[in-house]
Amino acid sequence: MRTALVTGITGQDGSYLAEQLLERGYRVVGVHRRLSAENHWRIEHLDALVLRYADLHDLGSLYDLVEEYRPDEIYNLAAQSFVPTSWTQPLLTAEATGLGLVRLLEAVRRVHPAARVYQASSSEMFGNSPDCPQNEDSRFAPASPYACAKLYAHMMVQNYRQAHGLFVVSGILFNHESPRRGLEFVTRKVAHGVARVHLGRVDKLRLGNLTARRDWGFAGDYTQAMWSMLQQDRARDFVVATGVDHSVEDLVRLAFETLGRDWREHVEQDPRLFRRNEVVRLRGDASRARESLGWEPRVQFPDLVRMMVEAEVARLQV
Ligand code: NAP
Ligand code: GDD
Repeated sequence: MRTALVTGITGQDGSYLAEQLLERGYRVVGVHRRLSAENHWRIEHLDALVLRYADLHDLGSLYDLVEEYRPDEIYNLAAQSFVPTSWTQPLLTAEATGLGLVRLLEAVRRVHPAARVYQASSSEMFGNSPDCPQNEDSRFAPASPYACAKLYAHMMVQNYRQAHGLFVVSGILFNHESPRRGLEFVTRKVAHGVARVHLGRVDKLRLGNLTARRDWGFAGDYTQAMWSMLQQDRARDFVVATGVDHSVEDLVRLAFETLGRDWREHVEQDPRLFRRNEVVRLRGDASRARESLGWEPRVQFPDLVRMMVEAEVARLQV
């Protein structure tokens, strides 16, 4: 039986990846951290999952897990992943999102260098790059402490691969969403807001910049690509994206239309929600993933929006 160690198991991607790895017959060891209240709502249906405590800030805890399980594959999904929080907590973001990966790689290098490692890199590293669409060779222009921390980790992936010969790869993933998305991210915030308006609980939804454009896909499709990257003969980085971008306004319009409503009657823009150093547009070119991994996104944007709105209505009606 192959063993996979997954950090960030309680997050959106951790839950989809764990499901898929268990279906493939892996023993999955999920890394969670000690909190005062449990947050296992995304993984509580996964009975076969082994859960162990560790923290990206704590080298010893990572070292012990790698030594104990000697995993075939390691997926580093843990991070402080919300861009606005990276402005209020830049040092914590650098520690978790940047240095956390290096702590994990040091544990791998010293204890079990045969492990294959996946790093969750981000399209935010492109920031306001002059290149569009962005592929693996596009110029980076990180525009937040989060993006800078991810870019540091991304470069360390390439360094550990070249200098230490580790099988470590970066997936440069564009935005991916699902009903399991955190409530602070715009797709879930909109889906939740639309459902609350529909059920008569509120009348208005406050949002920031409606003109920003993102390349949004479905998280369950993207976690399949993570696994494929670790099954290749050669360690290489891959962009994963749909290749189509939409504005936040497109998202809002579609989400309200799903329930037969006009977004203009319910959306207010709040200047406090506008970002400093906004990333204006991200659109990915996933040709390499299509050609080498045979990867294709299965869920298109309108279906993703409908899926999220319907899930939110069902959740609120319970
Ligand atoms: P998420 O839902 O925010 O999950 C983040 C996970 O990291 C949670 O399990 C969280 O644990 C854990 N974590 C945070 N700090 C930690 C620490 N110090 N030690 C151990 N665990 C810690 O993120 P996601 O959407 O699943 O994304 C997964 C990864 O992909 C992240 O690295 C993210 O930056 C990256 N990424 C995401 C996207 C996207 O669109 N979703 C795109 C590109 C890259 P708690 O539950 O305890 O907080
Ligand atoms: N969160 C949020 N809330 N975003 C809003 C709002 C709002 O009320 N109003 C407008 N937006 C805009 C943001 O300004 C941004 O341009 C866009 O919606 C998307 O914001 P998020 O959903 O918070 O995601 P993100 O693009 O900043 O970051 C996500 O994707 C990255 C990959 O590109 C995160 O998952 C990152 O962890 C990930 O790396």
